[in-house]
Amino acid sequence: MNVDFTHEPLDRISSTVLAVYGFEGRAATGGTVERLPGETRALLEELHASGELSGKSYECTLIHRPPGLAVSKLLVVGAGKQEKFNNAQLRRLAGTAVRHVRARSLHDLAWLLDDKGMDTEAVQAVVEGALVGDYDADRYRTERNSERRIDRLDLASGGGNVDTAASAALERGRIIAEAQNFTRDLVNEPSNHLTPSDLARRAEKMAAQFGLECAVLGPEEIQALKMGAFWAVAQGSEEPPKLIVLRYAHPSAADSPWVGLIGKGITFDTGGISIKPSENMHEMKTDMAGGATMLGVMRSIAQLKPRARVMAVVPATENMPSGKAFKPGDVITSMSGKTIEILNTDAEGRLVLADALTYAKQQGCTVLLDAATLTGAVTVALGNITTGVFGWNKEWVNRVLESAAAVGDRMWELPVDDEYRELYKSSIADLANTGGRYGGAITAAMFVGEFAGDTPWVHLDIAGTRWSNEEKPYLAKGPTGHPVRTLVHLLTNLRT
Ligand code: BES
Ligand code: MN
Ligand code: ZN
Repeated sequence: MNVDFTHEPLDRISSTVLAVYGFEGRAATGGTVERLPGETRALLEELHASGELSGKSYECTLIHRPPGLAVSKLLVVGAGKQEKFNNAQLRRLAGTAVRHVRARSLHDLAWLLDDKGMDTEAVQAVVEGALVGDYDADRYRTERNSERRIDRLDLASGGGNVDTAASAALERGRIIAEAQNFTRDLVNEPSNHLTPSDLARRAEKMAAQFGLECAVLGPEEIQALKMGAFWAVAQGSEEPPKLIVLRYAHPSAADSPWVGLIGKGITFDTGGISIKPSENMHEMKTDMAGGATMLGVMRSIAQLKPRARVMAVVPATENMPSGKAFKPGDVITSMSGKTIEILNTDAEGRLVLADALTYAKQQGCTVLLDAATLTGAVTVALGNITTGVFGWNKEWVNRVLESAAAVGDRMWELPVDDEYRELYKSSIADLANTGGRYGGAITAAMFVGEFAGDTPWVHLDIAGTRWSNEEKPYLAKGPTGHPVRTLVHLLTNLRT
């Protein structure tokens, strides 16, 4: 999609569709409907009076040959209650407009901005919403929806001048949305098309494209590093495991913390010997969503170039049952030296993360952020709407929550407390790899946190939010690319 500004007067805009939004219960006042010429607004008032234009969130009304305008169609998107309006909602409205237009096989639209002055955050949100909206997980269909994608989006100021701050905001929005879609493409890949080696190759290719340092460690190196926890999971698979490491360092960021981004990269999770039931097992192709998130974040950072130092570490492997697989009751020694009794081979995420965290610390990371599809339990607690956030370090937990709020990703902090440690004590080793049914998301998070030690650490359990089971007006069904935006916001707004 080609995105640019147009500064033509409103009544001269010549795209096929002009998209505007209006609030619930207010046909032609508030929102961008207010900027339309009098005769267009009169028509909207009429439609509203006849009950057709409610302004409820994401309601779409397409008006052909709107009076007073040069465009052939006017799309009015309902923005919901005015009191609740913010940039997160604006982002969704732009996505809704794009999805509505392309579903009608139209290929270009103009989005009317709020004011001629141009609010840069609003511009960024509109670009993000539009590009994220113009995505379908359809690469394996022979008849692809993508042939219906939007070719051109004009951000219409309705008069006014080129504004360099607004152009930069457009570019930021494009970079972040493309990274989010890159992550979605990876999450969508089936495990026969995305083995650990494939994931590593995709990371290498991306790193080369955007100028990141990239190293991929294979089975011998993983064993030489004594990553006994990662290896325990990997040993049952025919596919060699890979440890993917990407580095970004701004030249004048020598005093910044080294932020480690650790992403769970299980390209397929059968559960191993503690095998999962077959119902919905296919969804476990997405068990590398944390890793894909971190690759998407690095892709953005490489282009946005914030003053920061960031290292991504993605332990990639399959979790398979086989004659070589690890077994319940096994005791393994992690890279940190801590021993772990395996009670359930399906609790594999925390094992690969344990060694990846230890590795990141050894490589000099002074802050650790991890994203993982770690537990079914987090979806019981928060559904697939909200990511669970965990960590002892209040400052960093709050930074993550603030960034999430700023970019419209829903996140909620769940508690970590020493009292829960009792639950994952082992009778024969330092730790057990499960903490039982109750508080499962918390004990899983805390198990991972044991390997962070004193290093500030925040864990995001994205088991629920990695995927959307329904199509939304502004988002395709399938991989969401959540929480790429949150982490990019955090890293581009680091106060050290
Ligand atoms: N990958 C799963 C968690 C998951 C579940 C992700 C649903 C996405 C959707 C993880 O490896 C797992 O199997 N967790 C177990 C832990 C249990 C054995 C302690 C779980 O949540 O059941
Ligand atoms: Mn599992
Ligand atoms: Zn898993």
